[in-house]
Parts: sequence; C-alpha cells; structure tokens
Amino acid sequence: MAGATRDTDLPAGRESGLVGKQIAGYVVQGEIGRGGMAVVYRARDVRLDRTVALKLLAPELARNDTFRKRFAHESRVAAAIDHPHIVPVFEAGETEGVLYIAMRYVPGQDLRALLDREGALAPVKAGRIAVQVASALDAAHAHDLVHRDVKPGNILVAEGTDRDHPEHVYLTDFGLTKKSLSLTGLTTVGQFVGTLDYVAPEQISGRPVDGRCDVYSLACVVFETLTGVPPFRRDDDMALLWAHQYDPPPPVSSERPGLPEAADGVLAKALAKAPEERYGTCLEFVAALRAALERGGPGPVRREGAEGPEPPAAPPKPPKWAVPVFREP
Ligand SMILES: Nc1ncnc2c1ncn2[C@@H]1O[C@H](COP(=O)(O)OP(=O)(O)OP(=O)(O)O)[C@@H](O)[C@H]1O
Ligand SMILES: [Mg+2]
Repeated sequence: MAGATRDTDLPAGRESGLVGKQIAGYVVQGEIGRGGMAVVYRARDVRLDRTVALKLLAPELARNDTFRKRFAHESRVAAAIDHPHIVPVFEAGETEGVLYIAMRYVPGQDLRALLDREGALAPVKAGRIAVQVASALDAAHAHDLVHRDVKPGNILVAEGTDRDHPEHVYLTDFGLTKKSLSLTGLTTVGQFVGTLDYVAPEQISGRPVDGRCDVYSLACVVFETLTGVPPFRRDDDMALLWAHQYDPPPPVSSERPGLPEAADGVLAKALAKAPEERYGTCLEFVAALRAALERGGPGPVRREGAEGPEPPAAPPKPPKWAVPVFREP
C-alpha cells in the first residue's frame, strides 16, 4: 500500500520477526496486510485453538490519549454489536505498549483489492455489496456508533452462501480512523491519513459528525464500485479536500455510460455537502439507488447486471407505531 509505513513506528519491518511469537494469547502465523496505522496478521488463538485476525496498532497511536480513549470505548461498542455484516471483535487490549484487536479472520479479499482487479462492478453486484455495508452501518448508528472511515479497504468480501448470495460482506475498523485526529491537526495531512477519497465535508472542517458522514463515505464507495473511480479525483490532497467541500460530484452516468440517469440524483443526494440534505439512513440511500438502477431499462446496465436476483424496490414507509425506532433523517 502506497506510503503505508512512512513516518510511523509501526511494528512494520518486524513482521518476519513476529511470526511464531506469542502476543497476548495469540501466536502470529503470518502477515495479511497493512494500512497507514496498523498491521494485520493471521494468528492462532491459543486458548480456543482457532484462527483469528490480529491487528496491531502503531505504537505511536498508543501514546495518543485521544486515540486510546476512543479505541477503548469504540472497541467495546463495536464488540457489542452482533451483526452479520460487521466483523466480530473477540478481544481488544494492550500488551507491552501495543494496542491490539483480535477479530474473526475473514478469508477473501477487501473491496480495494477487488476494485483494483476488476474495475467497475456490475451494478447488481455493486448493489448487493452496498446493501450489506449499509445494513451494517445503520446497525452501528442505532448504537450511536459512527464508523468515520468507510472505504474499500475496510470492506471485506468473503464468499457467500449460495448462488443468490455470491458474496458475504463484512465491515471492519470502527472508529479506528486517524483522520479526525490528523485532519484537525492538519500538519500530517497526506502523511498519515491514508486515502482522502471518501472523507465527508464535515469531517474535513472538523464539525461534529454523526451517521450521515458514513452515508457520504458509503456513497463515495458506491460511486467507485459503479464507475471504477471515486467521485473526486484531484492532483493533490488539498485540491481533493476542497472538492469534497465545495465541488459538485460528477453524475455517475457521465463516468460510466449506460448507467441510468435516475442514479445521478440518488448519488447527488447521498453526496450532498450538508448532512441534513443527505438520506437519513444508509439503507434508504441504497434502496433508492437500487430502485433507480432497476428503472434504468434495457441496455448495458441490465445486461451486465443480469446475474443474481433482482434488487428489491424501496422499502415502504414504517408504520406509525414503528416510527420511534427509525432515526429521523
Ligand atoms: N478480520 C480480517 N480478516 C482478514 N483480513 C483482514 C481482516 N481485517 C483486515 N484484514 C486485511 O488486512 C488489511 C490491512 O488492514 P488495515 O485496516 O490495517 O488497512 P487499511 O484498512 O487498508 O488501511 P487503514 O490503515 O488506512 O485503515 C486489509 O486491507 C484487509 O485486507
Ligand atoms: Mg482498515
């Protein structure tokens, strides 16, 4: 991953040294991948004799008090959410100054790797992936947990259960982003932050965030799964931040001819600069999108997306008695 280990003192470089070593109750077996602030290993849980994914965070994060507090709080909340599309966290803790998370090992690849390999996905497949991520995010929001770093690298795509469900998608890394820390500090923009392709305008300007920042980021991811490119592409980070804040996103149909124009309005709403102008929930956004893709009529979109089941239409409005459990948009 480009520049992933730059100026941090990650456990990087020690990876070969870690294989075979025991960290907390886990024996490291091999490196799976690394990002801007952590390395993920395949490891053996000694007590339960099962394979886990063990994430070791950069030691410099453990020294950051804001991060530590949020890490402790959010790992607890994330571990409490039992959802089929959220990677189950088994344990989170600290050993010898290193923060670690043990979670379910998800065989497969992340959406970043999938997009790098396949480019734009068939709209039906993009819809199937989006709805799974959306349900995970809405469940998190119902627990007052905002992900803050929805991006292809945090979406794991495993094999599904059957022909009707060819992929099973997991969302991971709740609250682990460094963006809010470094964006407010600005000195480290572009050093540490990793990708800025999916960051919401209110995160950039340091305003308080809620679930609607995840709606925005999910929309950036969905845009990329449909077109092969994120909504904003600029030559440098500052121009990209500016674009998220002020520039209108291009219509998806202009980036990928054949996509119905009805999808443009849906993406534009999900990518609105003001959170209150976006969809109130992720599932509302994805339902509108799938309905728009459905209405696209015959053409390249339908043909490419012909595999798999037809996506459902937008869900009906909840009955009055259920209104209290639905979040206000
Ligand atoms: N539970 C898991 N099971 C299997 N592989 C995983 C798991 N969690 C993460 N990975 C893999 O490890 C890689 C590195 O993850 P990591 O979260 O450190 O990086 P990232 O999300 O790509 O970047 P960033 O540090 O900016 O979040 C991921 O891209 C993913 O492929
Ligand atoms: Mg990650």
